[in-house]
Amino acid sequence: MDDVKCACNKDQQSAVDPCTLVIFGASGDLTSRKLVPALYTLYRNGRLPEPIAIVGCSRTQLTHQQFRDGLKEAMLETMSETGAPVDGWDDFSERLSYQQVEYDSPESFADLAEFVRELAGRRHTKGNLVFYIATPPFLYPVIAEMIGASGLSRENVIGNGWVRIVVEKPFGRDLETAIELDHVLHNNFKERQIFRIDHYLAKETVQNILMFRFANTIFEPVWNRNHVEYVGILAAEKLGVEHRAGYYEKAGVLRDMFQNHMMQLLSLTTMEPPSFFEAARVQDEKVKIFRSLKPFAPGELRDNIILGQYAPGYIDGASVPGYRNEPGVSTSSCTPTFAVMRLFVDNWRWRGVPFYIASGKRLKQKKTRIVVQFKDVPHSMFRDVLDGDVTANRLVIEVYPEEKISVRFEAKKPGPRLCLKPVRMEYTYQKEDGPAFDSYEKVLLDCISGDHMLFWRQDGVELSWSFLSPILAESETCAERDALLHSYPSGSWGPKQAEKWMKLIFDT
Ligand code: BG6
Repeated sequence: MDDVKCACNKDQQSAVDPCTLVIFGASGDLTSRKLVPALYTLYRNGRLPEPIAIVGCSRTQLTHQQFRDGLKEAMLETMSETGAPVDGWDDFSERLSYQQVEYDSPESFADLAEFVRELAGRRHTKGNLVFYIATPPFLYPVIAEMIGASGLSRENVIGNGWVRIVVEKPFGRDLETAIELDHVLHNNFKERQIFRIDHYLAKETVQNILMFRFANTIFEPVWNRNHVEYVGILAAEKLGVEHRAGYYEKAGVLRDMFQNHMMQLLSLTTMEPPSFFEAARVQDEKVKIFRSLKPFAPGELRDNIILGQYAPGYIDGASVPGYRNEPGVSTSSCTPTFAVMRLFVDNWRWRGVPFYIASGKRLKQKKTRIVVQFKDVPHSMFRDVLDGDVTANRLVIEVYPEEKISVRFEAKKPGPRLCLKPVRMEYTYQKEDGPAFDSYEKVLLDCISGDHMLFWRQDGVELSWSFLSPILAESETCAERDALLHSYPSGSWGPKQAEKWMKLIFDT
């Protein structure tokens, strides 16, 4: 029986307003590989607001047509990889235009303001504006300041339009710089105008964590230290650093993946139920988790974190270079491309339960999963009749490549002898459940419709940095680096030293 219940919440269902979307960093990777394909797919599925005007901005001198042609080429490449069709591109591309900007030039932003005003009038976008900053992070404050100075951050200026700004992670490179960035944003925008993106939050399976936990009664009673032995959270990638050495050399895996995506997966898995499913209340509960993270005492770091850096190796049978041989990477780089951390959420529900959080590049497979390992049965009544131990229950939320939830439990193997074997109950997301949004499609639509549910709030950003900054400070000193950073061959599951913890997350 089809018993589907959908949100009728105004925030979630309201029609999206017409708008002008201005993308800074329009000649970069993120624009051609994620943003424009997402906008194009939304357009093809009739989900993009109409009318919409999309303005690409970067330092490169391009005509509107050159901008469109460049994107088309990149799109053809991406779509040929995914097998998605590219029909309708010409119609869609009429919505694209280009404006060259110098990011530190007030004159350049005055020109942009004039262009945007004229375009808004011509395209009837009602003066609604979204600024999407997809540039290298050092430009975030510069651009926010310039938008403010040009007058474009003020609402109700073009018609009675709203104005929003979308900031990609990383939000700063430590606590201090995250606070500085926030000051600049708040000097020019109000909090409700600011959207701090974490595309992991927009993944279907990640969104489902709260539904799974709080729209059912049978999981919550065992979701705590009394029943859970440990929790593992993994985001493994096959890709290396690609063309991003300039950014990655300064970031490393802890800033690139832990400060944001891994913390969000952790908070969704551990938070208390909010009284109501609404952005501010969900954020409040997440923040309590970040505040409960147990800091490592000095000297405890080595026992709780293992860092790695990929060496040459093989991915799918093809040989790939090591991190230090990647273009733009120093041959003596100590930047970690892998980390596994054992941390504790020091509150009533989770006290004493270890959380193993792992992420790395150039690993054997791309795989994202959350494993909740339950404790052994308190008393094995079968001990005299069975050869081995009873296998403890385990619940796995597979985020990628499979999108499913599975629960493992013991069952009697049919037959005359008494044998137990672990079996699985699974729910796999089905295509026929509806058109799933890619994460960038979802976050773009949510910004345009003003829904903050799947974005970071500044207090969460700062608490996440407060936990990580001392770890970064200690692990980035030369002496510690030698002790903590281990090499691993590309195509493996990380350094040998991490094997024991990785096994906990993998052992199916
Ligand atoms: C990004 C990181 O935020 O997430 C990248 O900067 C990483 O380094 C990417 O590759 C992983 O995202 P996904 O959705 O492919 O798991």
